[in-house]
Amino acid sequence: MHNRPALIAAALLTVSGSGLVARAPAPRWTAAEAQTIAAWKPRPAPRRDTRIEARIRQIVSGMTLEQKIGQMTQPSILSITPDQVRQYYIGSVLNGGGGWPGGNKHAGAADWAALAKAYDAASLSTDMKVKVPVVWGIDAVHGNNNVYGATTFPQNIGLGATHDPDLVERIGRATARQVRATGIGWAFAPTLAVVQNQRWGRSYESYSSDPATVTALGSALVRGLQGKLTGDGDVLASAKHFVGDGGTWRGIDQGENRSSAVTLATLHGAGYYGALDAGVQTVMVSYNSWAKDGAEPQGKMHGNRALVTGVLKDRLHFDGLVVSDWNAIEQVAGCERDHCPAAINAGVDLFMVPDDWKTFIAKTLADVREGRVPMARIDDAVSRILRVKLRMGLLDRPTTAGKLTGDAAQLDARALAQEAVRKSAVMLKNDGAVLPLAPGKRVLVIGAGADSFPAQSGGWSLTWQGEETDNLDYPLGETLLGGLKRVYGADHVTWSADGSLFAPGKFDAVIAVLGERPYAEMKGDVRWPAPLAHSALYPDQAALLGRVAGQGTPVVTVLYSGRVTYATDLINRSDSFVAAFLPGSEAGALADLFAGRQGLDFHGRLPFAWPNTACPTGGEPANERLFQRGFGLSFAGRVATGRLAEAPIVPACP
Ligand code: GLC
Repeated sequence: MHNRPALIAAALLTVSGSGLVARAPAPRWTAAEAQTIAAWKPRPAPRRDTRIEARIRQIVSGMTLEQKIGQMTQPSILSITPDQVRQYYIGSVLNGGGGWPGGNKHAGAADWAALAKAYDAASLSTDMKVKVPVVWGIDAVHGNNNVYGATTFPQNIGLGATHDPDLVERIGRATARQVRATGIGWAFAPTLAVVQNQRWGRSYESYSSDPATVTALGSALVRGLQGKLTGDGDVLASAKHFVGDGGTWRGIDQGENRSSAVTLATLHGAGYYGALDAGVQTVMVSYNSWAKDGAEPQGKMHGNRALVTGVLKDRLHFDGLVVSDWNAIEQVAGCERDHCPAAINAGVDLFMVPDDWKTFIAKTLADVREGRVPMARIDDAVSRILRVKLRMGLLDRPTTAGKLTGDAAQLDARALAQEAVRKSAVMLKNDGAVLPLAPGKRVLVIGAGADSFPAQSGGWSLTWQGEETDNLDYPLGETLLGGLKRVYGADHVTWSADGSLFAPGKFDAVIAVLGERPYAEMKGDVRWPAPLAHSALYPDQAALLGRVAGQGTPVVTVLYSGRVTYATDLINRSDSFVAAFLPGSEAGALADLFAGRQGLDFHGRLPFAWPNTACPTGGEPANERLFQRGFGLSFAGRVATGRLAEAPIVPACP
């Protein structure tokens, strides 16, 4: 990456025989950068509130450089006290997945709210001429999923199967209330990735491989979360991760996106148009790098000025704040996790430096004083942060002044989550019309996942990875086993995790629940050349299904997964097969659907094409599809699937 200030300075002053002469200013963009920018359809500039703009100028004019840099710094709550927020003029804090107040996994709404109040009070007790309250960000990505006792919703892949923007907007509203109950004002959602390769460990955070679906659902969530921005039940949203996170080579997390400039804009960037039109106030930059056409490396997104400033801020006229990802600046060429003038100059405004925030502040002060970062860039960044805070009314009323603060009742959104679960499940097979399974039938339930909140929730659930938790950590909600007992009666439901209680003829149906160990981000990657097949990743589950299949008792298989994955062998061993994705805390609602209660039927439709190979090449090519995107059966359909041609599950993909 060029050192742009020096490049521009050099272009302005050249030595000639008569000494220094001024020359025309260097072009703002190189030809290649201009081509990248031109690939994006321009958006009109939004109208600005003149009173807010006047207040911004007045506040900034009275701020010291230390106060400005402090406002641009976002530490983790695990590494900064309220008094340090005051002392260093900190503008924002966050908690990562599993970052609970006092390290207490069972911290309740009141505990979260107490810490939030302490941060608010601290930011209001600085010696600044105009006090600027802190804003706290949290990964409320499927409900307020970090918080003990909060209802969680289906992960985005399941919401993508609903194709229901109204439902997603209502989920946004409920999530915002859950977040405000903890005294927090900012949710790092929605993810707008348009996933092209299911090897990626974050595939479940994506709504779909279809940019139109991502746009419709992503903008709906922004509307739901932000409301009118100033209400007690409103929070900031974050469009993330800008740009190209879902299109890295072989689905490698934080890897290289090799799209053309046009594909980057029209496929991976599509969701940002909807989110910006919905008024999203923050955008989080992506870890991935971009190599134009796979041939011209453009470096990491956090250092890409043409995309962050040239496209997002100038071409799309985004006037909110751009936030970096967790220690992401360290991946920019020439940068450290606590020092990155290139990212500031690229256009990042707020820096997620969870632990090294003190040295970040010190080094950034030096960057400005020594000319590596222009003061104009700092003032722009601070102005954007203030603009967002003024738009949400923070300077008149800090977040914790809201009436929902500490109200644990807001964490309960069970009915809405149950609706979402029923709408997100996709029935891929139903031979012999095994479903709906009438109440009164004798059911054997097998598979550990049937009674596991971690299995039904996935990552970003109480902890970052969704691991180190068990059913005792979920006081609210229902497992599928619980739902089945509720619908069919405990005396009609036998639970045998390992299937050892199975006996032919003893039951009217077997419900086999298969699932993944929870994961998040890079820990969920299935790295090439490993086969992307559930049976290869979980051979014990394939064996379990094999023990009950073809024994004369109908088998309904339910798969919990954060991705579409090769499963033809499992589908062939099932009479009915339901892709439930990651339904969240109310997986028990699937039982109502299986019984067809009150006329319920399956309406879920695949948000990604379902693969017919364990070695997907990415992009869902027609020859790799078992079921098309948009496929899904209903009871009324009575479509016979029959036996499907199986592909080899090779130990290593070619
Ligand atoms: C993570 C994720 C991002 C999240 C942030 C804060 O690394 O990439 O989606 O919002 O850090 O937890």
